[in-house]
Amino acid sequence: MDLRCIIRPLGLLFVLAMTYPGITASYSIGVGTADSTGPIAEIVFMGYAKMDQKGTGLHLRTFARSFIIDDGDQRIVFVSVESAMIGHDVRAAVIRELKKKYDDLYTEENVMISATHTHSSPGGCNLYMLFDLTTFGFIKQSFSALVNAITKSIERAHNAVVPGKIFVDQTEVFDANINRSPQAYLNNPKTEREKYKDNVDKTMTQLQFVAADGHPLGVINWFAVHPTSMNNTNRLVSSDNVGYAALLFEQKMNKNSMPGKGKFVAAFASSNLGDVSPNTRGPKCEFSGKDCTEQYTCTGKKELCFASGPGKDMFESTSIIARKLFTAAINLWKKGSSKEVSGPVRVVHRYVNMPEQKAEYYNETTGRVEELSGCLPAMGYSFAAGTTDGPGSFAFEQGTTTSNPVWNAVRNFVAAPTEEDIKCHGVKPILLATGRMWLPYQWQPKIVSTHLAAIGDFVIAGVPGEFTTMSGRRMRETIATAMKESTQVEPIVTIAGLCNTYSDYIATPQEYEIQRYEGASTIFGPHTLTIYLKQYRELTLAAVHGKKVEPGPSPPDLTTANLISLQTPVLYDTPKWGRDFGDCLRQPKKMVYPGDTVSAIFVSGHPRNNLMTDSSFLTIEKIGDDGNWIEIATDANWETRLYWARTSVILGTSQVEITWDVPSDVLPGKYRIRHNGYYRYILGGVFPYRGITDIFEVQNASRF
Ligand SMILES: *[C@@H]1O[C@H](CO)[C@@H](O)[C@H](O)[C@H]1NC(C)=O
Ligand SMILES: *[C@@H]1O[C@H](CO)[C@@H](O)[C@H](O)[C@H]1NC(C)=O
Ligand SMILES: *[C@@H]1O[C@H](CO)[C@@H](O)[C@H](O)[C@H]1NC(C)=O
Repeated sequence: MDLRCIIRPLGLLFVLAMTYPGITASYSIGVGTADSTGPIAEIVFMGYAKMDQKGTGLHLRTFARSFIIDDGDQRIVFVSVESAMIGHDVRAAVIRELKKKYDDLYTEENVMISATHTHSSPGGCNLYMLFDLTTFGFIKQSFSALVNAITKSIERAHNAVVPGKIFVDQTEVFDANINRSPQAYLNNPKTEREKYKDNVDKTMTQLQFVAADGHPLGVINWFAVHPTSMNNTNRLVSSDNVGYAALLFEQKMNKNSMPGKGKFVAAFASSNLGDVSPNTRGPKCEFSGKDCTEQYTCTGKKELCFASGPGKDMFESTSIIARKLFTAAINLWKKGSSKEVSGPVRVVHRYVNMPEQKAEYYNETTGRVEELSGCLPAMGYSFAAGTTDGPGSFAFEQGTTTSNPVWNAVRNFVAAPTEEDIKCHGVKPILLATGRMWLPYQWQPKIVSTHLAAIGDFVIAGVPGEFTTMSGRRMRETIATAMKESTQVEPIVTIAGLCNTYSDYIATPQEYEIQRYEGASTIFGPHTLTIYLKQYRELTLAAVHGKKVEPGPSPPDLTTANLISLQTPVLYDTPKWGRDFGDCLRQPKKMVYPGDTVSAIFVSGHPRNNLMTDSSFLTIEKIGDDGNWIEIATDANWETRLYWARTSVILGTSQVEITWDVPSDVLPGKYRIRHNGYYRYILGGVFPYRGITDIFEVQNASRF
């Protein structure tokens, strides 16, 4: 008999007794939500980098969801926020706000903020120039909406802390994600690929929070998929597939509450989604419907190659993916056989100057261990090609490993890479030497946040970007191994994507060689991942042994830079001739049935005059038995949409169209639609107005 079989369980008990003395103790837990919806009109969305993708309305409001876990000694805050990314300056501003109220309770060490990565929310809030380039610079309103929502959701969680327990479980979700760069994935070693059934992760990891008295508090679900079901032609602000999944879960748990208003908080947070698409029908040529070429181009003229599905349009695709995620998550929640999490809370955080890092790498080709270093940030040619979730605007192809003299000339005009940069980035032909671009201020970060939280033997690795599937698997394995070495306990490790800093993608060194979009956007060079594996191993060991880590160098504060902002403000609004704000220009049909779409048009002001935070631009109302109007839906519901249009820029006139898809389980009765807004008076000041439609009848029987 193997002696280890005896020693290991003994060791385990010993370790449990030593490191987890409070094994039966539970935690203090608080959850909170706040509305993070930024300006819904005229601001370019962040994610697809498409300058003509400007908002013209609202489908799903976005939210920040916070979870506080405290073991009596150490506190961790995990925030999942529905935005494209989270920049250092946003987190720094949140921590400054929290400091005013709570002194040093919430710090850079224990506040982990992860963006869901929706591609349908207004941008201009990252501050690093590259990310704000397509949004015409910095947008204060987007930035403040994000900072205020995250801060408020943490405050709400803080005020709701109760004793509770945490459970963890995992399940698999099929037909909800595909790999969008399979060629790059295939370049990973065969022996490694053989350990996995799929080229994307199918596992959903769920953390469940229950109060000591048994009532459910909240849930965090991690599943690796891009929130790009809504494609780059969408103009309505939306939290996309994971956002709708969160609403479905919350609606189930918070009966009779409007979206984002209930006590139970459900997050669907981002993970190692770097190369993972929700568009399960895969890439096809736009018009011919034929398969794309190997490099995802189409041979026909002016035809794009992009992925879509599984639905007939992007709304249906969003809903299908959301429902798959929601169903898997709610089944896991109901199963009730989840493992209880126990043990101390440990958090470690360190800022890392990536270009200054060194790490060792075993090169399978040469059979040698090489000492490697990080590079100054740079983007490769294939970055400009975009992905099959959102093809780029110029004639760039993915997989480009040779450069083009014309583009190089343009590039050198902005900032030329040095010989050293070119050598450091290896096979990547440099399109933008962002690490050398200072005008008007920094283009991409060099100093990133690395963050790790252990709650007993559950580990959250907060990473500053988009890890690909295999990068995430290597990271989880590295952390699990480091933890097992010290505690003999096999932890569950989850990757929390897009945390604290945004530094684009992290592909494996082998994927990097193929230079698809993800490799071309791995900004610190071929060994970005190698450096992170070393970093997170150190963080894990520090967490396990309760050691403090050096905080590392502070990233620059870009809020003090002379930020460029080219977005024009709202100057004034006027109603149409002979009309007033809120007048209904088109009434809904008098009689409607489940499955119908009801719509109404109102004279409106500009939606940027007031974001209607924690409120709504619209309500669908039903008359109750007592004759009072009851809210049935707001602008955060899936069934409602708000389309805004400036009808004359010179006159400052605009209108909104509100639509409501009558649900199949609707109660028959008398209904009306209300619109709430603000207008900007030409002589100054912003004033509220409202509009109400005529009453219409909802029938429950089908008309057929
Ligand atoms: C986006 O989705 C719509 C359907 O909702 C489709 O008509 C359009 O071609 C898609 N475009 C891209 C670039 O994916
Ligand atoms: C491994 O070494 C070969 C030969 O020197 C080189 O071409 C390749 O880029 C190296 N691989 C990595 C990931 O650095
Ligand atoms: C719909 O109408 C039918 C017949 O009028 C009635 O029996 C049923 O209860 C109604 N359903 C609802 C949900 O009100």
